[in-house]
Amino acid sequence: MASILRDPALAPQGRTKVDFADERMPVLRSIRERLARERSLEGHRVAACLHVTTETANLCRALVAGGAELALCASNPLSTKDDVAAAVQADLDAEVYAVHGCDRATFYRQLDAALALEPTIVVDDGADLTARLHARRPELADAVHGGTEVTSTGVQRLRNMAAAGALRYGVVAVNDARTKHLFDNRYGAGQNTIDGILRATNALLAGSVFVVVGFGWVGRGIAARARGMGARVVVCEVDPLRALEAVMEGFDVRPVREAAADADVVVTATGNRDALGLAELEALKPGAIVANSGHFDVEIDVAGLRETAVATRAVREHVVEYELAGGGRVQVLAEGRLVGQSCAEANPAAVMDLTFSTQALAIERIAARERLEPGVHEVAPDVDELVARAKLRALGIEHDELSETQRAYLASWDAGT
Ligand SMILES: NC(=O)c1ccc[n+]([C@@H]2O[C@H](COP(=O)([O-])OP(=O)(O)OC[C@H]3O[C@@H](n4cnc5c(N)ncnc54)[C@H](O)[C@@H]3O)[C@@H](O)[C@H]2O)c1
Repeated sequence: MASILRDPALAPQGRTKVDFADERMPVLRSIRERLARERSLEGHRVAACLHVTTETANLCRALVAGGAELALCASNPLSTKDDVAAAVQADLDAEVYAVHGCDRATFYRQLDAALALEPTIVVDDGADLTARLHARRPELADAVHGGTEVTSTGVQRLRNMAAAGALRYGVVAVNDARTKHLFDNRYGAGQNTIDGILRATNALLAGSVFVVVGFGWVGRGIAARARGMGARVVVCEVDPLRALEAVMEGFDVRPVREAAADADVVVTATGNRDALGLAELEALKPGAIVANSGHFDVEIDVAGLRETAVATRAVREHVVEYELAGGGRVQVLAEGRLVGQSCAEANPAAVMDLTFSTQALAIERIAARERLEPGVHEVAPDVDELVARAKLRALGIEHDELSETQRAYLASWDAGT
């Protein structure tokens, strides 16, 4: 199927940006060079549904270098960089289906176009492509060798599918690898969320009351970065252990309804719907900024705001202000979609070097083995260590190794007091 792009002529501009990111992705580059020599993905058709960014383009380069046939579609209508999409299409002999800001119908048309490749490997971010394949093209499932899933929300959806007996092929949970969530979710999303908020609003964080809803990997990163910029950070959590952890990290922990009343900025990072519901939105101070960093646009009840607002106006690029009957004014960033991906540039290349190196190795292992059993699988533990060692080497950082005596001591049980 012919690519769906904004403008193929944007390819040279996109290529320069992809090269810029490549320089910051040394581990992925070394994997690409090896894949090019070994051609270990030959014979595989990869359908990938990812944020169409410079980092994703470098993952695509690695997969095509390994001999895979590739179709790439967008995992979010606002995160697509049209010039990058054009560069992938032009340089990799891949089909690309991604247009920034496309409507819902086009978004799903792009997914369907990627599935037309009849993939043997499905690479997903949020499990939309996997869900679509099962719902619309179930006859393709038996030929799928395996898949990968790169975000928390997608892994949760897949676990729900597996529990319901609906998942028809095996998927490797790349999100759950330590080289992914400990770095990408925490340091990547932590930074890209702040970056998105600042680019969209130019707000001063120092001294502001900054509420983080959800203290998982992403929430921890956002809270730490906001505190580092001088914000007074409040955390809202439903999990008592994570709420306690936030308390011991020195954050103010409060129920969301109470926290909303004082907030200058609220960010959701829960992977759950209505983390910031209409009642909380109505409780905000006039002019409060709200943004979402969770995968889907269900965390802030933007639909409720649209229905109840007495007036709506665009106040800046990516910022819509909703005026409420009670006199409230809420400023919503990026329609409640991922703020760092929509208002900034998603995760930095240096952190995606870890995520996509782990992803590339997981894909290579799927290609090398028998078809994966249906279900959600872990990334092989040696992949984490391999990627972390390569990253440290690339950074020029040496670290200690266990001596044989230490290794034996740690494996023993009889050397006590
Ligand atoms: N913005 C990014 O760049 C980026 C990067 C990685 C992941 N994500 C997405 O961010 C979301 C969070 O990911 P994570 O890795 O932190 O997941 P996580 O499971 O580690 O954390 C989510 C936290 O939210 C809490 N929570 C759930 N519902 C809540 C509610 N109603 N109120 C308060 N807290 C609630 C949970 O208890 C949990 O502690 C997911 O949707 C994930 O896909 C975004």
